Amino acid sequence: MIFDTHAHYDDEAFDGDREELLSGLAAGGIGTVVNVGADMASTKTTIALTEKYPFIYGAAGVHPSSTAELDEKKFAELRVLAQSGKIVAIGEIGLDYYWEEPDKEIQKKWFVAQLDLARRLKLPVIIHSRDAAKDTLDIMKAEHAEDIGGVIHCFSYTKEMAREYLNMGFFLGIGGVLTFKNARKLVETVEYAPLDRLVLETDCPYLSPVPNRGKRNSSLNLTYVADQLAALKGVDRETVEKMTWDNARKLYRL
Ligand code: NI
Repeated sequence: MIFDTHAHYDDEAFDGDREELLSGLAAGGIGTVVNVGADMASTKTTIALTEKYPFIYGAAGVHPSSTAELDEKKFAELRVLAQSGKIVAIGEIGLDYYWEEPDKEIQKKWFVAQLDLARRLKLPVIIHSRDAAKDTLDIMKAEHAEDIGGVIHCFSYTKEMAREYLNMGFFLGIGGVLTFKNARKLVETVEYAPLDRLVLETDCPYLSPVPNRGKRNSSLNLTYVADQLAALKGVDRETVEKMTWDNARKLYRL
């Protein structure tokens, strides 16, 4: 069975067939899914999904690009939501400098605050970091993220940066990008990183792997990522499924 460590099934891209798709995942070899919040609203819809489907767990958090919506009152609300029954992580949180808004200082403030929330609630974190390698690492070191633990989702930096996070005890989230033609940097990271520190993720509806690149993604496509990972590591698909499953359970403390 495959564990999808990062999905967004509350996204409107699934409004037409969510029920049907989710009900068919088990038959497609998908055993567990963690649905990830990206703002206050999607954290609430994530919790609703976890209540409806036994195989779905959730993460509560505000994505850096949505941090402008936060204030002390909303943050207090997030703290309550994060203590819901099937919430297993704080995320996705981090820094995204690809977009100019919100201001970097706003992103940093709420990244630190959410790291602190995770520490207090003893939950791992799901880190989103885009075009912000140095600031992300600096903050995580300053905040002693090695005591919190978690995953660097959709890892997109260099092998050297991967080493930093592996040394802090973090897992690396590997998804559809691994199958892309221009994935050289990620291939290097995957060849370097030990298989017991990698987890599978879709980030669906985004980042569909080849041969479905450009189409709506779902957990069912993870077989393509698992096959590619198996080829790079020189093991069979069953080994990849078993190890990434065990890693994901360790990551989310299930
Ligand atoms: Ni995501």
